[in-house]
Amino acid sequence: MLVSGIEALRIAAEGNYALPAINYINMEHLQAILAAAEELRAPIVIQTSQNAIDYAGFEYLRDIGVGAAERAKVPVVLHLDHGKDLALNMRCLRYGWTSIMMDASLRPFPENVAAVREVTRAAHCLDIAVEAELGFIGGKEGDAANDPYTLPEEAKRFFDESGCDSLAIAVGTQHGLYHGEVKIDYRRIRDIKQAVGGRPLVLHGTSFVPSQMVREAIDCGINKVNFDSELKMAGMKAIRAFLAENPDAYDLRKMNRPMMAAMKEVAMEKIRICKAEGKSWLK
Ligand code: G3H
Ligand code: ZN
Repeated sequence: MLVSGIEALRIAAEGNYALPAINYINMEHLQAILAAAEELRAPIVIQTSQNAIDYAGFEYLRDIGVGAAERAKVPVVLHLDHGKDLALNMRCLRYGWTSIMMDASLRPFPENVAAVREVTRAAHCLDIAVEAELGFIGGKEGDAANDPYTLPEEAKRFFDESGCDSLAIAVGTQHGLYHGEVKIDYRRIRDIKQAVGGRPLVLHGTSFVPSQMVREAIDCGINKVNFDSELKMAGMKAIRAFLAENPDAYDLRKMNRPMMAAMKEVAMEKIRICKAEGKSWLK
């Protein structure tokens, strides 16, 4: 069932767990993710990035996302991941997403707040959740500035002034592959959680972060965790193994099945790490 991101975040925050949020770029990814969520009776966030929209097309991605969510036996939030501009956020509001992200984190604080406030005013008229980002999450966003981490007092001001529903914070994770050891500033998460009065925090760049570290971050107050690269990599590994054993295969379905099974397995592991297993509130 397609549900509002506002409702799902509220329930997750009250239950001290995190919504697992996984990106999809095609039907097979979506089916693998939802099969995992249904098997574990977990609420789930399926999310589309700008790159995925460029790849698959806005309408296709929307149609399969909404269609799959409406048929799912668990609560599903359809979320826009790292929406960088007003126009894309507004299109998603209009065409069925139940959660959006206005990511203006590379702009100065006042401009970031203003951009998120503008989107939030419209989104809340439609009961749609808005995620924002404050601080500098490494990886695709480039090299870190001097103090890239989110400051607790700024996070509070950001929530108050923008009206957003959740905030992605920079506490040590980065998008994609890690070069070297991952370090998460748990103290910082706790301080931010306290400063913002318990409002929902989001962890990005969580692929390849050891399970117990993700769990500890959740226990410090994270209520949505984004996973992407690790599922893609598991899928590719399965495809490579299949092709190595079946070099003459020509039926794509035979290749896609092991890919989906591998992605489903990783999705199930991430759902469990988030403590979302069994948390579906649907009958
Ligand atoms: O917004 C998407 C995520 O932060 C995914 O990051 O590819 O490192 O899992 P990841
Ligand atoms: Zn991200």
